[in-house]
Amino acid sequence: MRIIKTKDYARMSSAAANIIAAQITLKPNCVLGLATGSSPVGTYKELVAKYENGDLDFSQVTSVNLDEYKGLSPENDQSYRYFMNTNLFNHVNIDKAKTSVPDGLEADSDKACRDYDEIVAKTGGVDLQLLGLGHNGHIGFNEPCDHFEKGTHCVNLTQSTIDANTRFFENADMVPKQAYTMGIQTIMSAKKILVVVSGADKADIVQKAFFGPITPMVPASILQLHPDVTVVGDAAAFSKIS
Ligand code: GLP
Repeated sequence: MRIIKTKDYARMSSAAANIIAAQITLKPNCVLGLATGSSPVGTYKELVAKYENGDLDFSQVTSVNLDEYKGLSPENDQSYRYFMNTNLFNHVNIDKAKTSVPDGLEADSDKACRDYDEIVAKTGGVDLQLLGLGHNGHIGFNEPCDHFEKGTHCVNLTQSTIDANTRFFENADMVPKQAYTMGIQTIMSAKKILVVVSGADKADIVQKAFFGPITPMVPASILQLHPDVTVVGDAAAFSKIS
């Protein structure tokens, strides 16, 4: 595991964007696994800037996102499809037909998950998977649990995740209680993994996830077993690491 410690969120974002840019430059038709949340927003801004400068070409890139709230449409401004469009896809020359997010409007959970696993499989595999880290150690929406879920599945969000995401909604009642998420095996199948973490509120979970025991109760801890993981974080997020 490679740890890159940066001064602040802005430096974390440019370091992460440089890694993604290098991936696209080395393999223009790469498959990117993408994440939502506040952690990667700065990374996406940096990627847009590189595209606008003429330094990056997304025309051959394929992307698959980690997760989506069950019940939210792509037009809902809290859906992860909407997030990806507004933070990245609308601003670069990626072909939206080659971008995928689980279908939040598919009410049949089994079908939604099967379909998404098929979409991911058809890409031929993720070259670089970008991840944020939930306060309880979740990646995508793989919540703490007594086992690691392999493929895409429907999760009941934990109260801590609902609380953390309430800031994006009018009130807690509006936060969807379920989501579709890629499974741990799919995430672990990516050739490379890039995690972005920032802020003192992530310091405890960074310590547990990357330096504590590997357990499904801290889903991100499984990343310790992946051969090519880079964690880019700011000083505050790494403050509990000696
Ligand atoms: C959300 C997302 C995750 C994200 C995490 C952390 O629930 N499903 O993919 O990594 O929360 O979010 P943030 O970066 O805003 O702390």
